[in-house]
Amino acid sequence: MAKNKQQKAKASKKKTWDLSPAPESTSHVQLKKKYELYIDGKWVKPTSGKYFPSINPGNEEKIADVAHADAKDVDKAVKAARKAYDNVWSKMSGKERGKYLFRIARMIQERAREFAVIESMDGGKPIRESRDVDVPLAANHFFYYAGWADKLEFAFPNRKVEALGVAGQIIPWNFPLLMAAWKIAPALATGNTIVIKPAETTSLTALKLAELIHEAGVPPGVVNVVTGFGDTGAEIVNHPDVNKVAFTGSTNVGKLIQNAIAGTKKKSTLELGGKSANIIFEDAPIDQAVEGIVNGIFFNQGHVCCAGSRLFVQEGVADQVIKKLKNRLDHLYIGDPLDKNTDVGAINSKEQLDTIRKYIEIGKNEGNDIYESSCNMPSKGYFCKPTLVLNVAQSSKLVQEEIFGPVLTVQTFRTVDEVIQKANNTPYGLAAGVWTDKGSKIFNLTGKLRAGVIWANTYNRFDPVSPFGGYKESGFGREGGLHGLEAYVKLA
Ligand code: NAI
Ligand code: MG
Repeated sequence: MAKNKQQKAKASKKKTWDLSPAPESTSHVQLKKKYELYIDGKWVKPTSGKYFPSINPGNEEKIADVAHADAKDVDKAVKAARKAYDNVWSKMSGKERGKYLFRIARMIQERAREFAVIESMDGGKPIRESRDVDVPLAANHFFYYAGWADKLEFAFPNRKVEALGVAGQIIPWNFPLLMAAWKIAPALATGNTIVIKPAETTSLTALKLAELIHEAGVPPGVVNVVTGFGDTGAEIVNHPDVNKVAFTGSTNVGKLIQNAIAGTKKKSTLELGGKSANIIFEDAPIDQAVEGIVNGIFFNQGHVCCAGSRLFVQEGVADQVIKKLKNRLDHLYIGDPLDKNTDVGAINSKEQLDTIRKYIEIGKNEGNDIYESSCNMPSKGYFCKPTLVLNVAQSSKLVQEEIFGPVLTVQTFRTVDEVIQKANNTPYGLAAGVWTDKGSKIFNLTGKLRAGVIWANTYNRFDPVSPFGGYKESGFGREGGLHGLEAYVKLA
């Protein structure tokens, strides 16, 4: 009996359950050792002959080599896209274009498991996220925009709708397949052709998507995938025959792009960084709110542009919320992105891990109260412990700057006006979350918070029907929904 009690006491001290490993199988995944560029419906070698490795951040092993496109390759891709636009795609009826999009959507669903596994291997995100969020949403975006392709005159009543031409698209590493879908689907639905560049650390799902688009029979040159670094991206932006630039990534690069295209006729949409506020009021359902906060910043290693990275808690419940948060942090599973139990996966790259560590160091030097999860850490790979920054000042670098990691600043407030002021006091304005029992409070805040998306009693929910985008330095233009179509058309 006594022994039993001892055992029980010991067990209750243990931070997490010991779960058996449950890794998703990789045996069904088909990956090449070396990836060329997808231009004009063919796989072509890069002019420079240069390749770079794509690394699995969960175990630091190389997965494949990927071609590094230069100015000549980008020029080839833009020419192919122009030819396809002039001769095929702009002449095709919306109904026919829609059929291709429906086909792509269905094929993504059929290969969902393979896409999810590759996304987690190449990018480090937990398989639970890539399987349940990234891949299904990517398919849904194609379905949604497929439906618009032959109904553009209803999307824009009494207007003449024309495609822009060749769209240059540059995507980041946090949602590689999903961002590709967000950009490709509306562009094709409206009759544009595409040159797209994935981020250098996560090219593989975009290349798999190119294989799928090829199999779907999309005419050569309609979608071209060029891989490479920032220099490749800059070549796309600066190419004189590109009509539209769509970019998601850092605010710094967004500014460079805006400068580069100033004075040209190129249209652009920029979806940049964020420092989104999650606000818990005293009347909120506290357990649900804590779970939402954790989901908003930790489940995806903070690699979400709209991550709820600043928490504001009303004073009366602050102690309770912080206690629950610490407890929840200690029970998170961090490790193998392919394990179905994993809550927090790998940081996308060594560089990003260094950036996050630098911020945590700044936080310590500023004298903030830093709480790191006591979870077990894997011995290999790029991992960062979920971290809370408590008692932090509004002026702290950690409150002001985007960290893009599992780091949550926690501040308290007393009144509604105070929290609105604090939440809006940032150069960004991408998203926000409000947790309260009162509908009136929700409506009051949604009117006053300067953010493109505001969630109430939930966080990080997406749907192809609803537009997404930012205020201020979070960029301009909207993706998703009807708004997302508008970004790819000329209206007369
Ligand atoms: P980044 O902005 O450099 O990369 C995004 C994409 O832009 C990549 O495909 C990259 O190759 C390309 N690119 C880089 N320089 C370019 C240029 N001059 N012209 C055209 N394309 C260019 O972002 P990075 O360096 O990977 O991450 C730095 C920080 O940016 C992160 O710590 C995070 O704060 C933020 N970020 C925000 C994202 C978002 O979704 N809003 C996504 C990725 C990063
Ligand atoms: Mg990688």
